[in-house]
Amino acid sequence: MAFDISATDIGRDLADPIREERIERVRAKIDQLGIKYIYYQYVTITGRVLGKAVPARHWERNARKGIQTWLGGITNVAADMHGNLYGFSANAGESLAMPDPETFVQLPWDKRMARVFCTLYHGLEDAHSPGMYFTADARGNLKRFEREFRDAHDGLHLRLGLEPEMAWLRKTEDGGIFPYEGITKTYAYHIGQFEGARDVWTQVMEYAEAMGLDMVQSDVEDAPGQIELNYSFDDALKTCDRLTTYRQIANEVARQHGLVACFMAKPFMGAPAMGCHHNCSLWRGDDYQVVRTVDGELPGMEEMFTYNRGGVNEFENKEDGWIPTELGRHALGGALKHIGALTALGASTVNSYRRFADVGLWAPIGANWGLQNRSCTIRISSPDRFEFRAVDSMVNPYLFCSALLKAIDEGIREKIDPGAPEDRNVVEVMQSGEDVKLIPMTLKEALDALAEDDIIREAMPGRLYELYDLMKRDEWQRFLKEVTNWDVERYLDCLP
Ligand SMILES: Nc1ncnc2c1ncn2[C@@H]1O[C@H](COP(=O)(O)OP(=O)(O)OP(=O)(O)O)[C@@H](O)[C@H]1O
Ligand SMILES: [Mg+2]
Repeated sequence: MAFDISATDIGRDLADPIREERIERVRAKIDQLGIKYIYYQYVTITGRVLGKAVPARHWERNARKGIQTWLGGITNVAADMHGNLYGFSANAGESLAMPDPETFVQLPWDKRMARVFCTLYHGLEDAHSPGMYFTADARGNLKRFEREFRDAHDGLHLRLGLEPEMAWLRKTEDGGIFPYEGITKTYAYHIGQFEGARDVWTQVMEYAEAMGLDMVQSDVEDAPGQIELNYSFDDALKTCDRLTTYRQIANEVARQHGLVACFMAKPFMGAPAMGCHHNCSLWRGDDYQVVRTVDGELPGMEEMFTYNRGGVNEFENKEDGWIPTELGRHALGGALKHIGALTALGASTVNSYRRFADVGLWAPIGANWGLQNRSCTIRISSPDRFEFRAVDSMVNPYLFCSALLKAIDEGIREKIDPGAPEDRNVVEVMQSGEDVKLIPMTLKEALDALAEDDIIREAMPGRLYELYDLMKRDEWQRFLKEVTNWDVERYLDCLP
């Protein structure tokens, strides 16, 4: 019997009439903007961007047939400490990267180029699941989880705003173990220091606006070279795609200036880390509006310049100020219940936990929620939203948001009570020896919490959980066997 593509995920998605209309609109943009090459890109489990470039004249074929790529790309085509490729052998099958036409946008630093995000499917020749979603693709999963959440809660949806912090570093002459220094000094919010980095951050802003990021504010912060630029919040997938775009822009600007765009969680001891707070609110009703971040013809699909601005924020309690609505409190209850497993995804590297260990530098450690209390992992930062703080700039935002949606979903379904807000400073409480619940303080502890959390693991279907656990436990083992500078300084000649 002939293979029936219409019964597969890929067949169903291709049959969506909106898709054909968008494919044609992309063609019009290609012609009008003079695009020569397109990057077909997807995001791996650790948040890297992989893909292929193809001449733009093949657009229609690629949009309908996809791009062939190896399944093991999703684990970075990398090997564990024993030399085995993570999760896939060399003869593992192919996946099809199908472009999402609505994400097409020109690259402002080379206007012959454009990019498009892809969703991954198993290839049509796959022995087990031909044409079905490749569920290790966290971005593809988030798209579906967002839809499922909306359907389950009568149109309710998460709107997300991120605060990605990063360090702009230059290489120093004198080597040493960390031969980098910040391009700004540690004078938080200092206009003079910010001025010194003006060429860098204005270039980022300009590129970001050309790619549809509605930039709202920017400042220099208190670690060497640390700069935070914010863009407006929106539906979750859009915001996550914009974080990926932001990182790619930073990478390009660093290349132009001979700098390093550093998203590592904690590059400097004794200085604040690179957090990436996830600000969340829950809405019903949509009103998609184009935000004109550039003049004239839009250099990409209109969807990239569109933000969801209407509806009612069901999190905000108009009667009771800072204490959220009942629905909002249940959402917090869900996030709190799963705080350990969420931390395993938000703080995803060994280095992420230096951020929590170096206490008192804005990073949260309390497994609790508070009003304007930065020592809590969940902070009501304004009556209209809460922020999840145990996330740093190394995060895979698609994976983290998928998990957050599952936690909030359970909180609302089970009407989970988050208890009273914490008003003590958790760091002081901990240091005084009083009892206070903390988030996992090492990657190992966090992975153990994730292993026991069935709800959060629902956000990691198919092989995704197994692959994440494999990669991250390997990272932990590599760390344990490393003899560091610290070991040598502390133990080399300390006896007799
Ligand atoms: N209702 C909302 N829902 C989701 N995100 C929002 C909402 N309102 C604002 N945001 C987002 O929250 C972020 C605001 O960051 P801002 O730096 O102002 O807040 P903050 O948490 O008080 O700062 P900090 O953590 O640095 O002290 C922006 O990314 C913005 O788009
Ligand atoms: Mg914040």
